[in-house]
This record gives sequence, C-alpha cells and structure tokens, in this order.
Amino acid sequence: MSDVFMNTYHRLPVTFAKGEGAWLIDVNGKKYLDFTAGIAVNSLGHAYPPLVKAIAEQAAKLNHVCNYYQSDVSAAFAEKLVAACAGAGMKKVFLANSGAEANEGAVKIARKYSLSKYGPGRHQIVTLKGSFHGRTITTLSATGQDVFHQNFGPFTEGFAYVESGDIDALDKALDKSTVAGFLVEAIQGESGIKLQSAEYIAAAAKFCAERDILLMFDEVQCGVGRTGTFLACEACHDEHGFGIKPDVVTLAKGLSGGIPVGAVLAGEKTADVLQTSDHGSTFGGNPIAAAAGLVVLETVNNPAFLKEIARKGEKIQHIIKSWNNPKVKEVRGKGLMIGVDITEEAWPVLEKAITRADAKTPGLLVLSAGKNTLRLVPPYIISDAEIEEGLEILRACL
Ligand SMILES: Cc1ncc(COP(=O)(O)O)c(C=O)c1O
Repeated sequence: MSDVFMNTYHRLPVTFAKGEGAWLIDVNGKKYLDFTAGIAVNSLGHAYPPLVKAIAEQAAKLNHVCNYYQSDVSAAFAEKLVAACAGAGMKKVFLANSGAEANEGAVKIARKYSLSKYGPGRHQIVTLKGSFHGRTITTLSATGQDVFHQNFGPFTEGFAYVESGDIDALDKALDKSTVAGFLVEAIQGESGIKLQSAEYIAAAAKFCAERDILLMFDEVQCGVGRTGTFLACEACHDEHGFGIKPDVVTLAKGLSGGIPVGAVLAGEKTADVLQTSDHGSTFGGNPIAAAAGLVVLETVNNPAFLKEIARKGEKIQHIIKSWNNPKVKEVRGKGLMIGVDITEEAWPVLEKAITRADAKTPGLLVLSAGKNTLRLVPPYIISDAEIEEGLEILRACL
C-alpha cells in the first residue's frame, strides 16, 4: 500500500486487480463475492460487457467537451434520465460528478427559488439527524451528524436538523418564513439503512406543499433502481394516496455504473430556477459518464429488471431471517439495500469475511453502516446462486 495517500481511509489489506460480474479478484488471484458494489456504485457489477463497450467506444470518439458546446451522447443521457424520473414529476436535469456536488446544486436551487420569490432571510435547509449528504463544507453542514461537524468550521450557515420520524418536530422546524427546503434520504444509507415511514414522508410532502418549501430527495445512494423502483421516492405517497412529486431529486453513485457522475433533477416548480452562469461544472455531463449512464438507464429502467431487484432483496432478507441466529437482531431494507443489525461490532465481521479468502475459498465483501450494522448493497446483476454463496460466507463469519 502506497504511503503517499493522505490518511483519509481505513483501508483493508486487499488490492484488487479486476472484477467480473458480482466478483472481484485480488492481485494474488483470490476471489471475493462483492456485496458492496463499490458502495452502491457498480450497479451492473464489474466489467458488464455492454458498459465496457459503451465506455470504450465513447473514449475512442470523444471523451470530453466543454459545456459551452453540445454533445449528442450527453443530451441523450439527460433526456433518458429525465424521462426515467418523469413519474416523480422531474422536468430538467443538471449533470455533475458526485453526490456531494449534486446536493450542492439542490441547496443552490432551494436558496435561489426562495430568494427570488420571498426575498432574503428565508434560506434555511432542514435535514434529518443521522442523515448523510456529502463531504464538502456545505454538504457536511447539511449532514445531521455531530461527528462530521468538527475540525473544519466555520461551516455553511443556514442548516437545521430534526429527529427522523418525529412529525411534530418537522411541523415546527418547517417554518415558512425562514425555511427554503427540506432535504431527505428516503432510506438513509450511511447511518445504517434507516427507512422513513410512509406517514412521515406524507406529512413532509404536505407541510412542504402548504408552505412552498422545496421537498428534496437525496437519492444518491437509494436511487437508480436500488430499492426496486427507479427512484425510491416513487414508492412514497402523499396523504391522499397520490405518488409524491418532489421538487428536487439528487442522484449519483450507481447512475453510470462506476464512472463518476451526479445529477440534480428539478420538477415543475424548480426546473427554471437556475439560469445561465448560475451554476456549472467542468466535467458535468462528460460524454464517457453519459455513455455509461445510457447503458445503466437502458438496463435498469425496465419493469422486469426492477422487479428482479426487489425479488433478490426479499430473498436476501428471507435467508438471513431464516438462520434464526441470535447474533442477528434485525434485518431491514428495501430491494438491494439491506441493513443487518448484529449484537457485535460490524467491522470485525467484515474483516473476517475478507481475510478468510485463500486460493480455494472465496471471501465476501460487505460494508458496515454505523457500529453494529452490516450493509449489503450488491450489484443488481447478482445471481441467486451468488446470493446464496455470499450469505453462506456471512453466516460462517457470524
Ligand atoms: C445519501 C448520500 N448523499 C450524498 C453522498 C455523497 O456522495 P459522494 O461521495 O459521491 O459525494 C452519499 C455518499 O455516500 C450518500 O450516501
């Protein structure tokens, strides 16, 4: 391991050389089943042939063009993405490179929407305690976890945090004279696969609509099919039972299957908030990311494919529950975004699952989310046999 990297990651002692489907192979030829998908990024697994082909062909043609000009592949990707999110009312998109950058765009939309309509002083963004929205100074401000609010201040001002699930607290926090937007993960990823209740989201949608506060879903981790619908918020309903129509949705991670990308999608009310020179990004909508994203959209945004994601997720939950292992306290999640609370610390289990690999025995890659939660976010293309094999390894490690 090179020591020129800044010491920002707790890196495990494994160096990967290549990947194939749901498998990663290290430099010594040892194999690992991948239940992490690069933290919900490699949505179509590793070296997915149509993705490899699209990236290679695009790289041979044009790998970057500045956003002052046009690129057919970027336009095709943007159109397909907006179409995939049309059910949630999305009309336009800004393309970026990461989740944090997408959320920065969302905050800018909320601030400008409110300032233009109501004047200064109504700029607050409300988020949830336990949320995670990124590592830039502003998205750290948006992140409702004290542990991230040390060492790097002063942070961007104008963020307030409410207890997840507490409808009264949300009612109080969403003050229409000071708040521009409410940013929420339909399923919190980093803090341990925590699902918001249907009632909570319906109440949030009601308060936001009544008070003209933007309802913004951070779907950086839970979007792009991971929960069995293209957007996780598509499964949410308002108090009348109609599908939620958020004002802004952010995506990143799995959207281009492993090539850096981010997207801020805007609905009817917010589609034209950002105007020329309001925002930009050198690499945003890069043709290679767009070519890869087109393959992801063509593959994932298909009812049969999405149904399979949901089925595989249920299968994983069912198998883990069937162990009746007293070390497993709870299994929860949706689609292929699953959290397993265990009675011991998650990190040693995760280490054990990797280090057991030898020339004959495969290892397993899983993530932790919080101290006692194992997080399983495998690639969508994982097979039933691979699910069973991976879970057997997990069972042995527990
Ligand atoms: C919900 C959510 N939002 C934002 C981010 C930040 O994304 P990125 O690391 O691409 O900036 C993450 C990353 O884990 C995330 O899970």
